[in-house]
Amino acid sequence: MKSIAIMGASGHCKVVADLALLNGYDDIVFIDKNPEIDMLGEYPVADEDTDLDYYLEHHYDFVVGIGDAKIRRKVQKNLEEMGADIVSLVHPAATVAYDVQIGAGTVVMAGAVINPSTVIGKGCIINTSASVDHDNVIGDYCHISVGAHTAGTVNMGDNCWLGIGGIVSNNIDICADTFICAGGVVVKNITKPGKYAGIPARIVPI
Ligand SMILES: CC(C)(COP(=O)(O)OP(=O)(O)OC[C@H]1O[C@@H](n2cnc3c(N)ncnc32)[C@H](O)[C@@H]1OP(=O)(O)O)[C@@H](O)C(=O)NCCC(=O)NCCS
Repeated sequence: MKSIAIMGASGHCKVVADLALLNGYDDIVFIDKNPEIDMLGEYPVADEDTDLDYYLEHHYDFVVGIGDAKIRRKVQKNLEEMGADIVSLVHPAATVAYDVQIGAGTVVMAGAVINPSTVIGKGCIINTSASVDHDNVIGDYCHISVGAHTAGTVNMGDNCWLGIGGIVSNNIDICADTFICAGGVVVKNITKPGKYAGIPARIVPI
């Protein structure tokens, strides 16, 4: 029996549960703060306040299935402090080069490609059909959204979100806490945190 507890009970959790199933987990439980939800799809939802200790004591693997990066970071830090075994999950239909380093709690979805000598931090989402090229350094709690792409030698700080279909050109540095809106194309370094949109991506007040 391979057991995993997924923090959260949202749409993103369903994708993470599928990932867990494909990674050989046959005992899957969601853990959420909303005691009114008992099931999500075919998996039970446990109450975080009353049941979390049980899954820690029974040495379940843990992963956070929460899309919102601030909450994901908070929940993962809490799990770290409690000594949980936090795992990363890679979809069997993702392509990850031999020397790529992936941090705890990071999920790599179907069709994603991560090329050689790239380092992905902890608690990241490399989403469906996204690609991260060679020699990237992607910080903790970043989200490379569905169909977003980074070229070679991109450095991205912690807590960044590259929106759906977004692109980062090669040799670009992006500071922590940057959000590239859907479809944005980054062609210059970003040194000031904020929201960037358009082609080329510029800071916006959205
Ligand atoms: C940036 C974003 C958050 C704005 O959403 P919003 O607050 O609901 O904004 P609105 O749709 O009301 O648009 C406000 C204005 O910004 C513009 N705008 C919205 N998104 C934009 C984008 N991605 N690029 C350029 N302009 C954008 C709108 O055209 C609108 O302009 P107007 O006032 O001149 O008409 C959203 O478009 C976005 O990029 N979300 C990311 C989605 C994503 O990547 N999800 C991950 C899936 S894996």
